[in-house]
Amino acid sequence: MMYTILARFLDFQRAPMSADDIDCLRYIEDGAMVVENGRIVAIGDRSEVIQKGEIIDHRPYLIMAGFIDLHLHMPQMQVIGSYAAQLLDWLNDHTFPVESQFSDPLHAKRIANELMDTLLRHGTTTSVAYCTSHPESVNAYFEAAQQRGMSVIGGKVMMDRGAPEALLDTSERSYEESKMLIEKWHGVDRVYYAITPRFAITSTPEQMEAAQALARENPQCYIQTHIDENRAEIDYTMSLYSKHADYMGVYEDYGLLGPKTLLGHCIHMNDREIAVMIESQSVAVHCPTSNLFLGSGLFDWFGLKNKGACVGLATDIGGGTSYSMMRTMDEAYKIQQLRGERLNPLLNFYTSTKGNAEAIGLEADIGDLRIGSSADFIVLDMGATPEMALRAERVENLQDELFLLQTMGDDRSIKETYVAGSKMKSVI
Ligand code: GUN
Ligand code: ZN
Repeated sequence: MMYTILARFLDFQRAPMSADDIDCLRYIEDGAMVVENGRIVAIGDRSEVIQKGEIIDHRPYLIMAGFIDLHLHMPQMQVIGSYAAQLLDWLNDHTFPVESQFSDPLHAKRIANELMDTLLRHGTTTSVAYCTSHPESVNAYFEAAQQRGMSVIGGKVMMDRGAPEALLDTSERSYEESKMLIEKWHGVDRVYYAITPRFAITSTPEQMEAAQALARENPQCYIQTHIDENRAEIDYTMSLYSKHADYMGVYEDYGLLGPKTLLGHCIHMNDREIAVMIESQSVAVHCPTSNLFLGSGLFDWFGLKNKGACVGLATDIGGGTSYSMMRTMDEAYKIQQLRGERLNPLLNFYTSTKGNAEAIGLEADIGDLRIGSSADFIVLDMGATPEMALRAERVENLQDELFLLQTMGDDRSIKETYVAGSKMKSVI
């Protein structure tokens, strides 16, 4: 299958250094992109690219790489908007009961398919997800991605205490089931496995040892967990793991940190934790809509970044409140406003595409529109609603356009989503 797309194209070559660091990106005002067998084979000025196959005209819209969501919970689609005090109540009163339903494979399958369609409607082409402790939930998630040709990361949640029986495994079972799932899925098509101890509170020391063994035996896999999200969570963690230096010290001592480790939240960190995270090259994954919804705190994006941390961005559905990475960018911007910092739209869109791709080491395949990349891309309309169109009349440059999209945009601004060269949104 071969075709040529006409549109405006934007991708990032590197992280922007400032709000007007336009050299970090490539922008093609009147462009053409040729896609063949799911990959980008040519891109450039329309006058210079040799057009092949069917012509698909997306002018005057803007094409970017699909969004990458670095942290979400597949079984929490029906948890969004649950009224609770803060994290621990929210988990106990709403989240764990809903996740317990995933012992039913049919339910897992239904929600996994809903998740993928929802992500694609919102322009997200790659997700990094927590499933539940039930292996069937992982099969359902990966199968739904595989059927759509998507590149995803995910894993079985390891949790052997502190939740209803229906959600718990044991240290042995979590090891065996994770091992089986890694063998079955990691590297199949575009699927990658993340070893997933939920967080220290729901794992005994024996289970942390099982996670350590999995990590040691499977260095090709990712690791994902939560850290320093909420003050009560931290206090409780330290009461359970009092021998460790701090919360990060738990994961550090069990050998779970490294460049393939994704640490959700990272809000309330001490200097030692920050230093250990940066030294290990673990990724701090910021989840702004969740942090505001659960009252968790204001992530110190620039404090961490300036010290050398790798910062990623994610929705954290269902603590998070929107599937849209544009809504997520907007809330991230507002959090930085409250901290007296400015998160410019170039950095926001960079992070949601190429930055997140680099954070998971998949930048050779996703995150930009280079020749050879997979054709995972989205068509963005800054005038998707009447009120956006009205505001768009006063847009003067690319930064304005991106800022309008991040401030007012949502799934309505995603005209089309392509995965591996196939139209996904219009066919749902
Ligand atoms: N910490 C442990 N589990 C969870 C979860 O499901 N959501 C959030 N936001 N934090 C967590
Ligand atoms: Zn989470």
